[in-house]
Amino acid sequence: MRCSWKSMVLLALASIAIQYTAIRTFSSNPLNLLCSVGLAPTDHAINCSLGQLTQVGRKALGGCDEAPSPTSASPSFSLPAYNSSRRTHILILATTRSGSSFVGQLFNQHPEVFYLFEPLYHVQLALLPRLGQSRNPAERRVMMGAARDLLRSLFHCHLGGLEGYIQPRPARHATDKLFRRGASRSLCSPPVCEASLDAKEQSLVLADEGECVRRCGPLNVSVAAEACGAKRHAAIKTVRIPQISDLRALLEDPKLNLKVVQLVRDPRGILASRIETFRDTYRLWRLWRATGRRPHNLDLGQINTVCEDFLHSVSTSLAKPPWLKGRYMLLRYEDLARFPLQKARELYSFLGLVLHPGVEDWITNNTRGSSDLSSRQKFTTVRDSAANAENWRVKLSFDMVAYTQTACQPLLGLLGYKAVFHPRELRNLSHSLVEDRTFPPVV
Ligand SMILES: *[C@@H]1O[C@H](CO)[C@@H](O)[C@H](O)[C@H]1NC(C)=O
Ligand SMILES: *[C@@H]1O[C@H](CO)[C@@H](O)[C@H](O)[C@H]1NC(C)=O
Ligand SMILES: *[C@@H]1O[C@H](CO)[C@@H](O)[C@H](O)[C@H]1NC(C)=O
Ligand SMILES: *[C@@H]1O[C@H](CO)[C@@H](O)[C@H](O)[C@H]1NC(C)=O
Ligand SMILES: *[C@@H]1O[C@H](CO)[C@@H](O)[C@H](O)[C@H]1NC(C)=O
Repeated sequence: MRCSWKSMVLLALASIAIQYTAIRTFSSNPLNLLCSVGLAPTDHAINCSLGQLTQVGRKALGGCDEAPSPTSASPSFSLPAYNSSRRTHILILATTRSGSSFVGQLFNQHPEVFYLFEPLYHVQLALLPRLGQSRNPAERRVMMGAARDLLRSLFHCHLGGLEGYIQPRPARHATDKLFRRGASRSLCSPPVCEASLDAKEQSLVLADEGECVRRCGPLNVSVAAEACGAKRHAAIKTVRIPQISDLRALLEDPKLNLKVVQLVRDPRGILASRIETFRDTYRLWRLWRATGRRPHNLDLGQINTVCEDFLHSVSTSLAKPPWLKGRYMLLRYEDLARFPLQKARELYSFLGLVLHPGVEDWITNNTRGSSDLSSRQKFTTVRDSAANAENWRVKLSFDMVAYTQTACQPLLGLLGYKAVFHPRELRNLSHSLVEDRTFPPVV
C-alpha cells in the first residue's frame, strides 16, 4: 500500500486519538507482561509460562499457568470432531523470520509425521534464480503453479517430483544437495540415514543439521519416499507461498485433506530480525539505524510486501470462504512464544492429531528456562522465544518503528498489534504491544 504524505499525517493524527483510548483501557497485569518479554525477576513467584516450569521438571506442571488442567487442556474455541485416523497433510505457511522453524519443529518432533523443511527452495532456485519472490504476475503464476504441483506430489510421498528441481540432478535418486535435509528428523533417521549409529550418535545427528549431512551419507530420494509413506501424516514448512489464495486449488482437493497453519508475526519484529539476519539485503536499514537518517534509496518494498501478503491472507480468512472451512488456522508467533504448550495443544486439536509427549518434551527443552544441558543445541534462537518475540523494541529506532507501523497500519489493527507513538512507549517493555486476541480456526 502506498500512502501520500498527507494521508500519513492524517493517519498519525487519527492514531493519537486511538492511543489515548488504548492507554485508558489498558488493563493487563504488568507482571505477566514482564514474563512475556522475558524480563520477569526470577526470584519472584510469578506464573510465567515455561520459566520455572522447566527448571523443576514436568512434575511441576501443576503449579504453572501452562498446567494441563481440564480448562487449559482444551483450546479456547470449539472444533468439530475429526477422524484422527485419516491421513492429514499440514502446510505451515510463513514468511522469513516469523518463527517458522519453531513451528516446524512442533511437527518434526512427532514420530508419526514426515516433515520437510522448505522443499520449494529448489523450485524457486530453478525457476526464479534471482533471490526474493517475484512480483511479476506472469513469473509468479508459473512459480505458484509449479509449487502447488510439487506440494501435492510431496504430500502424497511422490518425492521423485523434487528430483527434477535439484541441481545437479540426482543420480540413481541419490543427492547431497537437498536444501536443509538435516532439519528433517525422518531424513536423518534409519532407513533414510544409512550410517549405522549408536544411540548417542543418533541423537547427535538429530540435534545437529550439519552432523546429519556429514554422517548419513547421500540422501536416497526413493528411500525417503518409502519412509514418508510409512508415516501417518506429513507436514511441510514454506516461506515461498505469499498468500493463502495461492493454495486454494490444493485446499479444494478432496483427496489431499490439506490443513494450513498460517504463522504471522508483528512486521516490526520481522523487520528487526531480518536486519540482523540478511545483512546485505537490509543494509540500508542498518544504515538508517546507525545514522538516525533514513537513506533516500531505502527499499520500502521489502516490508510493504510482508504486510500486503499478510493483510490479503488474513482478510481472506476472516471472510470465511467455504474452501477454508476446517482447513485454516492463524497463529501469532507472539502467542506461541508466550504460551508454547497451550498453543501447541490448540494447533494439534485443530488438526485433529494427538500431541505426542515427544513434542511436549521438545517444547519444554527448547523454550526459556531449560537447563544448560541441552543449550548447546541448534535452537538457541528459539530458546528465549518469549524474549525474542518482543526484542525488536530495543533493536529498532523509533523512526523505523514509526515508519513500519504507518506502512502496515491496517494489518497491525487486524492482528492485534499496538502502534507506539513515543520512544518511551516503545522501550517500556512492561507495556505490551500484543493485544489478547483469539483467532479461532475457520469452521
Ligand atoms: C500461580 O498459579 C497457581 C495455580 O494456577 C496459583 O495457585 C498461584 O497463586 C499463582 N501464583 C502467583 C504468584 O500468581
Ligand atoms: C476414519 O478414517 C478411516 C480411514 O480413512 C476410515 O477407515 C474410518 O471408517 C473413518 N472413521 C469414521 C468414524 O469416519
Ligand atoms: C536408491 O534406492 C533405490 C530404491 O531402493 C535403489 O534402486 C537405488 O539404487 C538407490 N540409489 C543408490 C545410489 O543407492
Ligand atoms: C529433553 O532434555 C532431556 C534432558 O536434557 C533429554 O534427556 C531429552 O531427550 C530431551 N528431549 C527432547 C525431545 O529433546
Ligand atoms: C510503562 O508502562 C506501564 C504500563 O503501561 C506504566 O504503568 C509505567 O508508568 C510506564 N513506565 C514509564 C517509565 O513510562
